[in-house]
Amino acid sequence: MHENEQLQPMTRTLDKKKIVVFTGAGISAESGIRTFRDANGLWNEYSLEEVASPQAWAKNPQLVLDFYNERRENVCNAQPNEAHEAIVALEQQYEVVVITQNVDDLHERAGSSNIIHVHGEITKARSSIDETLIYDIGCKSISMGDTCELRSQLRPHIVWFGEPIMHHGTAQAHVRDAARILVVGTSLSVYPAAGLLKKASYHAEKVMVSLDVVEKPFGYEFIRAKASSMVPWVVGKWLKGERAI
Ligand code: APR
Repeated sequence: MHENEQLQPMTRTLDKKKIVVFTGAGISAESGIRTFRDANGLWNEYSLEEVASPQAWAKNPQLVLDFYNERRENVCNAQPNEAHEAIVALEQQYEVVVITQNVDDLHERAGSSNIIHVHGEITKARSSIDETLIYDIGCKSISMGDTCELRSQLRPHIVWFGEPIMHHGTAQAHVRDAARILVVGTSLSVYPAAGLLKKASYHAEKVMVSLDVVEKPFGYEFIRAKASSMVPWVVGKWLKGERAI
């Protein structure tokens, strides 16, 4: 860390118009998209080592493609819910940056205009030898034999366990600057994504809406509730310029 960064936390002013909304699988649960660690979660049915790691891809790419093709079909049959829509409403008065761990496109389809996917996007495929070659595939499946322009097998544009998250620096900067932070529907089990929340300013208003959490982040007001019921409530308070709690 450079010496002048020591001064940063003392002198940095928060952007009063900036809100960061950090979301996880729980915000899409009421849209019918399975979470990972709840009772009917994906990791209770599949072994993440067999479908969501570079080793899994090397060992059995067809199994990995089948897993993501099934999830992509589920996403494409789902619709955004009131929580996604409430977050869009915040844009009437604030600069809203959605930082999501989710690979679904429900924030996009709800109408959010600034979304950072730190774990990738299921509606995109990429080259398995050049990660800069990324292709929009929408709801199409990826099959063995589908290749990029370098003729290598296409893979899901998803961050697998053991791979670095995407847009880490950009996401950190937004969390640092935000005057308000709303966390929705995440167990905060997976780092470094979960660690982003520790970059929030002491002076920022920090609220978390989730049914459960592994470890409540320090300084966050925790509301144990469904996203579709309490996210609109928090948004309503912020649109009136009031503190949520
Ligand atoms: N409303 C609010 N919260 C909910 C709801 C709901 N309707 N349903 C479930 N939740 C909460 C659960 O209590 C849990 O805390 O959402 C959280 C879901 O946790 P996980 O299944 O662990 O999902 P997530 O936190 O997004 O996982 C992070 O792990 O496997 C990786 O890459 C994957 O991005 C994912 C990351």
